Amino acid sequence: MLMAGVALASAAGFAASAHAADDKTVQMLHWWTSGGEAAALNVLKGDLAKEGFAWKDVPVAGGGGEGAMTALKAMVAAGNPPTASQILGYFAVDYAEAGKLGDITSLATKENWAKVVPTALQKFTTTNGKWDAVPVNIHSVNWVWINKAVLEKIGGTEPKTFDEFIALLDKAKAAGVIPLALGGQPWQEATMFDSVVASTGGIEFYKKAFVDLDESALKSDTMKKSFDNLAKLKAYTDPNFAGRDWNLATAMVIKGDALVQVMGDWAKGEFKAANKEAGKDFLCYRFPGTDGSVIYNTDMFAMFNVPADRKAAQLALADATMSISFQSAFNVVKGSVPARMDVPDTAFDICGKKGIADVKAANADGKFVGSMAQNYAQPPAVAGAYHDVVTKFFHGEIKTSDSAVTELVKAINAAK
Ligand code: BGC
Repeated sequence: MLMAGVALASAAGFAASAHAADDKTVQMLHWWTSGGEAAALNVLKGDLAKEGFAWKDVPVAGGGGEGAMTALKAMVAAGNPPTASQILGYFAVDYAEAGKLGDITSLATKENWAKVVPTALQKFTTTNGKWDAVPVNIHSVNWVWINKAVLEKIGGTEPKTFDEFIALLDKAKAAGVIPLALGGQPWQEATMFDSVVASTGGIEFYKKAFVDLDESALKSDTMKKSFDNLAKLKAYTDPNFAGRDWNLATAMVIKGDALVQVMGDWAKGEFKAANKEAGKDFLCYRFPGTDGSVIYNTDMFAMFNVPADRKAAQLALADATMSISFQSAFNVVKGSVPARMDVPDTAFDICGKKGIADVKAANADGKFVGSMAQNYAQPPAVAGAYHDVVTKFFHGEIKTSDSAVTELVKAINAAK
């Protein structure tokens, strides 16, 4: 807990300036309900409790946050927003544009956040130069999580290309192990497809297709090949994959029932919660063919426009979240890496250290790119259209990669 003293002192400073009649409750909406996620959230609850703030939990189960975003919409529409909500990318932009978010710029300026948070993320944490959200972490989706004992048992090694990945999955299949642990829910399949596209076409192609929405890229042979590659992966799942929660898929790898899961680094939080050690019990590799690129999704806390008596608690939450000690302690447990670039990697395991180095390198090389599936490349309507087409293809409702690209272009054009 490096510099804990400094961080607590500064947050306490904000608490001290609060008025006696202030509501000292932080009401937080989130979808962190798995074992690893809850453990990470406890770090925040603990830090705020030390400063005298009570925690009012609004958990809405459902990986990827779909249910949470529906619940949030209802609270905001009823004029009863939470102090803050976990939120992804363009969802925050929408609330900001609708004038629903508050203003924490004075704290941001005092603490110099603009200097330490990557510019790419500030697009989502600020509106017209005003800070209205804080980035809790940087997750990335282009990872694979491998059970080390199973890998050794089947005589496998790190796959560096998509073809090597398929060869490795074949080895697992031949050895009678479930090769790929997957949760067949639209957001999970779409999250995996982000990586498949970056691997198949390269990160520049990914950007052209998903960030620029270039129609020629969206309907290209490369996009068709990406869908074909996605279809190949389906052959390695077990028959019960449909509808499975992401953390249950992680548990299959933890137990050694399956070799690998393709998932964002929140999966690492589950390994941690099960007392598994990176490098010893499990291995983390970038999705084959995407090393050097980071397809990110950052959890932010959107700061809603709350009445005056709730603002001190909101500022205390923002201040605690952005402290160097919290960004280290929370992300060690969550599986993500800090959103501040000045947090030492000392407390992180080898996957976390790689994650931190990867973010810095990718950011410098123009290879730090928002996740389409996780609402960091496009607004929710477009991301939703993407989920839809990917899942229909994966479950056989759209039968060929040819029709998949046609449907993708159609759905995206209708949504944008
Ligand atoms: C969030 C993670 C979360 C995951 C699964 C993602 O959208 O960014 O924080 O752990 O969903 O619930």
